[in-house]
Amino acid sequence: MKTNYLRVDPSCPDHVLIAEAAEVIKQGGLVAFPTETVYGLGADGLNSEAVNKIFQAKGRPLANPLILHVASLVQARALAASWPSAADALAKRFLPGPLTLILPRSEVVPDLVTAGLPNVAIRYPANKIALALIKASGVPIAAPSANLSGRPSPTLPEHVLDDLGGKIELILDGGPAEVGVESTILSLAGDNPVLLRPGGVTKEELEEALKEEVIVPGTVLHPEKSPGVEAVPCPGLYFKHYAPQAQVIMVTGDPREQVTKVKEYLARHSGRRVGILATSENYPSYRDLGVSAVYLADLGSGCHPEEIANHLFSAFRECDVAGAEVILVETVAPEGVGLAVMNRLCRAADQHEI
Ligand code: TXA
Ligand code: MG
Repeated sequence: MKTNYLRVDPSCPDHVLIAEAAEVIKQGGLVAFPTETVYGLGADGLNSEAVNKIFQAKGRPLANPLILHVASLVQARALAASWPSAADALAKRFLPGPLTLILPRSEVVPDLVTAGLPNVAIRYPANKIALALIKASGVPIAAPSANLSGRPSPTLPEHVLDDLGGKIELILDGGPAEVGVESTILSLAGDNPVLLRPGGVTKEELEEALKEEVIVPGTVLHPEKSPGVEAVPCPGLYFKHYAPQAQVIMVTGDPREQVTKVKEYLARHSGRRVGILATSENYPSYRDLGVSAVYLADLGSGCHPEEIANHLFSAFRECDVAGAEVILVETVAPEGVGLAVMNRLCRAADQHEI
């Protein structure tokens, strides 16, 4: 299949281009589009045949459900069997934005979208191209991240092309994604709000808006404690994920200890092709090291984890391109957006750390 590629102005999407993309969705095809978090791979969320193509193109297990993307709260409510007041409070504060809500599903939602679960994931994104596409399509758009299953989520249109070129009808290029990690997923389907996936909206912000404690399952930072796909409410979190081809090793400790550990690792494994993903605080120590790292990146300040979130997936992909066998990544405090960074790192690293 030939994959068309259209460049769209993210601040003022051209309605002719959007209409072309919406036509692909209406015809049951696949369109990759930017959101403020990462690029999504979209299909008509009410058309099971179209949704099935998403699983095929990504090589995604059918047991892993999809998020439905909407362009208004009215459209969101139609997908849920009930809409608690907590959803209103969160919508008022964060939507449109990088927050996905899990709610009991209404009967319009196809089984394939929820992988047979009783709940549905609903997201009202902030990106103008995404919103225009959903509106012009006239349906909720089912969209996982637009990467091959198991690979890091795409934060640039080139990442989508690398993974899905030749497998989908169209890519809308709206430039780099702003947040860089996927949306926060919060379940409101049970008695207490549960943070299933940390992201751009932080636990602290959610609690402030809800005036209630948000439960963070232990598996957010300890994926190895996964109770197994069948027993958990957010299946995707227990598939291996976000991982580059190279082995990821987390470098823990305070900034000074991290530099020492990296230097020791390099000394001990001198023949190995190593990528180093450093905080801005430590980056100069490596740059001036004259070591044989095949790739070295400044991910951003450890004090501003949103900078690190923004660069992490892209840096993973660049390490692979550089042929790294091992990627040493410095960890940050699991607070604010740092929790999302650490969640992705723990899962990519499979708990390997030094
Ligand atoms: O930022 C994002 O959320 C991006 C953009 C494209 O919107 N989308 C995204 O989708 O990250 P995906 O499919 O890569 O991750 C969605 C996660 C998966 O772990 C999936 O298991 C979970 O959401 N999920 C989807 N529907 C669910 C449901 N009904 N109940 C529990 N978890 C669900
Ligand atoms: Mg994904």
